[in-house]
This record gives sequence, C-alpha cells and structure tokens, in this order.
Amino acid sequence: AITRITARQVLDSRGNPTVEADVELADGSFGSAAVPSGASTGAREAVELRDGDPERYLGRGVLRAVGYIRGEIADAVVGRDAEDQPGLDAALVELDGTADRSRLGANALLGVSLAAAKAAAAAHRLPLYAYLGGPGARLLPMPMMNIVNGGRHADNPLDFQEFMIAPIGASTFGDAVRMGAEVFHTLRGRLLDAGHGTGVGDEGGFAPELRTAEEALDFVVDAIGRAGYRPGTDLGIIIDPAASEFFRDGAYRYDGEGVVRTVEEHVEHLAKLVDAYPIVSLEDPVAEDDRAGWRLVTDRLGGRIQLTGDDVYCSREPLVREGIRERWGNSVLVKVNQVGTLTEALDTIEAAHRAGWTAVVSHRSGETEDTTIADLAVATGCGQIKTGSLSRSDRTAKYNRLLRIEEQLGSRARYSAGPRPDQVQA
Ligand code: PGA
Ligand code: ZN
Repeated sequence: AITRITARQVLDSRGNPTVEADVELADGSFGSAAVPSGASTGAREAVELRDGDPERYLGRGVLRAVGYIRGEIADAVVGRDAEDQPGLDAALVELDGTADRSRLGANALLGVSLAAAKAAAAAHRLPLYAYLGGPGARLLPMPMMNIVNGGRHADNPLDFQEFMIAPIGASTFGDAVRMGAEVFHTLRGRLLDAGHGTGVGDEGGFAPELRTAEEALDFVVDAIGRAGYRPGTDLGIIIDPAASEFFRDGAYRYDGEGVVRTVEEHVEHLAKLVDAYPIVSLEDPVAEDDRAGWRLVTDRLGGRIQLTGDDVYCSREPLVREGIRERWGNSVLVKVNQVGTLTEALDTIEAAHRAGWTAVVSHRSGETEDTTIADLAVATGCGQIKTGSLSRSDRTAKYNRLLRIEEQLGSRARYSAGPRPDQVQA
C-alpha cells in the first residue's frame, strides 16, 4: 500500500518549472516521476496547472499543483494499493472532478500516476517495462529522431516543426542510435559548410535559417547519403508539420515561406513532398480542427504512409475512436501528459492497436531526465518512439535508457522496423 506521497517543483529542459512526484510504499519501495510539458499543445489536452504568479517564474510556477499532491491527493491516495493502477488512476480522475483535469492539474495527476507505477515495479523488483508489459515485452521501438527543428520549437523561419529520421533498416536499437548519431553529425558538418548556424532547437535538432521544407529535406537526404546510408532503405524521413500552428481562417499560412495554401493546395504540397522524398510518416499533416483536411490527406496518402494524429487526438481514447470511425489518419501519437494518467494512455494505445492503427509513444518539447516513456514504448510493444534528437540529455536520456533495456533483454530483444507499409492501414 502507498504510505507516503510528496512532490516538488523542478526545472524542465526549457528552464520552466515542472512537477516531480514521489510515491513510497509500505515495504519501502519508491518511485519518482517528473512531468513533461508541451509548447505546440492541442486544444483538447488535459490542463497543465500553472500558478500565474508573475512574481515567480514569470507566472509559470507549479506550486499549486505541488500543493495539491502534498495535500488533497496524498489524503485520497495514501493507503491505496499501488498495484491497482486502474483503480488509483480512476480515483485521481474522480478527485479532480473535471473533464479537462483543470482543478488539480494534469501535471499533478500524472506525476502521482507514474510515480506509483514505478514504486509498484520496484516492489516487484522488476524494471518498469517488464512490470507494465509482462514477460512478453521485448520489442525495442524504432526511434523518430528530430534533427531539424522549426515552427514553435525554434526561432528560424521554417514553417514545419520537425524533420525526423527513422532507422527503418537497423537491425538492433543500438544500430538505430548509431545510425542516427552519424547522420546528425554529418548534417552538422554540411550545415556548417553551407554557412548555416548549428544551434539547436527545443528538441535538440538543428535550427538553421531555412525557409522551405524542400531545403530542409535536401539537407537531411544529403546527410543520410554522406553518412553512408541509403535514404528510404536504411533511414526514412518523418515530418511533423504541426499544422494546427499555421492554420488560420481556413487556410495554411506558411509565414516563413511567404505563401498561403488552401486546404487542397496544402495536401497537394504534402503529397508532392511524399513523392519526392523518402517520407514514411507524417504527423499532424493538417490542423486539429480541419476535419475535411484529415479526410482528404487520409484518402490521398493513408494507403502509402503512416499518418499520425497528435493535436487532433490529444492521446484521448474517445477522440481516437472518433478518428478511427471517421478515417482521420491511421496512427496516434501518445503523450502521457495530454491525458493525465498512465491508465488512460495505455487504453488509448490499446484502442489504436485493436483498430489496426499504430501508436507512437512520444516525449514533449519540454522534457526532463525522466525516462518513463522509454519503458512505456517497450511495455506496450508499440514499436515506435518519438523522443527528439541525438543531442541534449533530456532527449538522449530516453535513448540511453532503451540501450540499457536492449542490453538487459539480451538475445530476447527485437527491434521494430517501424511504419512499414504492411503495418499501415488505409
Ligand atoms: P509539443 O510538440 O511537445 O511542444 O506539444 C511536440 C509535437 O507537436 O509533437
Ligand atoms: Zn506533433
């Protein structure tokens, strides 16, 4: 049973405060979890509670959420069985009492939910992936490595938020990390040669002063080749345009490029990119509230590549169910803090899998050294993780955790080749 819960304010990778929660059990087992934070958030995400006190951390403090954990939540949860994760999470949701988790904050709920799972795993003397996934959990995810940053994650003019590489031809997770790192360093050299800065954005990818997707993609394809790999065979490309961020008044406004595209023109532009470059997956290709656009892009590209919904689903099972019915994409991004509890995130992944959709476990642009999502990807066997570039410890911590898991699994470990056409449903 849970005997003690506490929490504190720590810093995330952008220097903003976030919640860290601790859970202790009667046998002395202990779990701790730090909560991530997004920048290009979906409108229907669970609410991250911020203090709004301009005198402290420019209003971004989380002392209220911390206070709720130490007070109300501790009162309600101490004495509960940490192994009953669904029961615990349901109690947290009920205590909050709002649909969007805005009373206690999704950051307060999630910290406790994840810390409890870790404490329960410790009580079983199991690593988290094995505790949650059982003895069959052995699939290492294909990483989506974000090596060029734009949009809200960088101050450059690139309209699209993320250009990622995916080691679809790797045979182990260790190989995948090496391939990604080699391309990352090769890309750095190429950017320098071309006179670009090599400063990095929020997720550790380069943020060069490029304007168009084509310019960024040319650099990425070139770097893959120069690193000794075959674009499209060894490494595929994934783009997250994060299209909600530049959809205004019914049109896609590419401010960096200086072009406005209608929904049809925007989808046509994406299709041209898919034709011209080895793109295996697009995330948020259209805006969260552009339902016609989701239908159009799924009709146009859903049979060829993975189309992952992030903002449109906010990791919430009911929204994913609607998307499955309406045929909006064929895959869902799962960010634990978009829903607020571990159980709900697991339910979302299960619903996607049951419909033949893929699920991608994901970080946020604001992260910490916490590596829970690495274990979650292995536990669910979802086969894909999106956790940033090959630089910055908040990102590499997850890769390093997966390297350790692969070593622990030894010959039982398998590597997912990611979004192959046969895994993708039109
Ligand atoms: P966020 O962005 O964490 O800033 O919301 C990540 C994404 O859009 O995938
Ligand atoms: Zn996204």
